[in-house]
Amino acid sequence: MKPALHAIDATLPAPPTYTPAGNECALFEHAWKRRVPLLLKGPTGCGKTRFVAHMAARLGLPLFTVSCHDDLTAADLTGRYLLKGGETVWVDGPLTRAVRQGGICYLDEVVEARKDVAVVLHPLADDRRVLPLERTGEELQAPPHFMLVVSYNPGYQSLLKALKPSTRQRFAAIEFGFLAPEQEIAVVAAESGLPSERVAPLVALAGRLRKLKGHDLEEGVSTRLLVYCASLISEGLPVRDAVLAGLIEPLTDDADVKAALIEVAGVVIG
Ligand SMILES: Nc1ncnc2c1ncn2[C@@H]1O[C@H](COP(=O)(O)OP(=O)(O)OP(=O)(O)O)[C@@H](O)[C@H]1O
Ligand SMILES: [Mg+2]
Repeated sequence: MKPALHAIDATLPAPPTYTPAGNECALFEHAWKRRVPLLLKGPTGCGKTRFVAHMAARLGLPLFTVSCHDDLTAADLTGRYLLKGGETVWVDGPLTRAVRQGGICYLDEVVEARKDVAVVLHPLADDRRVLPLERTGEELQAPPHFMLVVSYNPGYQSLLKALKPSTRQRFAAIEFGFLAPEQEIAVVAAESGLPSERVAPLVALAGRLRKLKGHDLEEGVSTRLLVYCASLISEGLPVRDAVLAGLIEPLTDDADVKAALIEVAGVVIG
């Protein structure tokens, strides 16, 4: 047996549970050994964030997560000078903190960030592994235990927001999808506390609704929504109400589409 990358301290809390869909855990471990930056792509609520949290805990690494948005600039990531008690002091941003301390830096929805973010990510994501801090003139060398992971949802990607090939090609990429029904039933049952036999029809309904993606719906039902719906049922909410609030209302505001989804739900759930 190969030695563990990091001895796991029995006193540490158990890593967040994650059910793999394929070889993504092994792939992550290999990428970590060689510090190959990773890009995770997949629909909302399919387990990307859970996967990174699981792997960070499994490898015994601190995790720095940054949720990117369309106003996020390079300075938000690297840091800025702030006025404190009449003095100007440099305050590290989350990316700089991660590079200084080492660990996994996870940039969620990276396509949303402003274009200047690529300028700081490029030298960090290739073999140079440096973070240039333009304002202080420093160039930080990432320590050996630093790894960059980014994610995005290709579904929302507009041409305007596509990642440039020069950015994409600095990462090895893993595509995420939804789990196979049997696995998804087990995950939703474990997360919500609802027995598997009561989760099964919800997963079957999700399968039907996912087929409508691209026709009437921008996105299919996520595993996250299934967990919400099953949790509401587990708390005693009638199935119909939970399906409406947990699986249908979050998907659409269009009255006609909603009526069609309710009809599908009626057929599958009864
Ligand atoms: N493979 C899995 N193993 C365990 N739980 C999962 C898995 N996939 C999804 N889940 C459940 O679904 C929830 C949503 O997953 P998560 O937050 O990781 O999605 P995401 O892909 O990061 O979504 P987003 O793109 O919206 O950030 C988790 O909190 C967990 O309950
Ligand atoms: Mg996420």
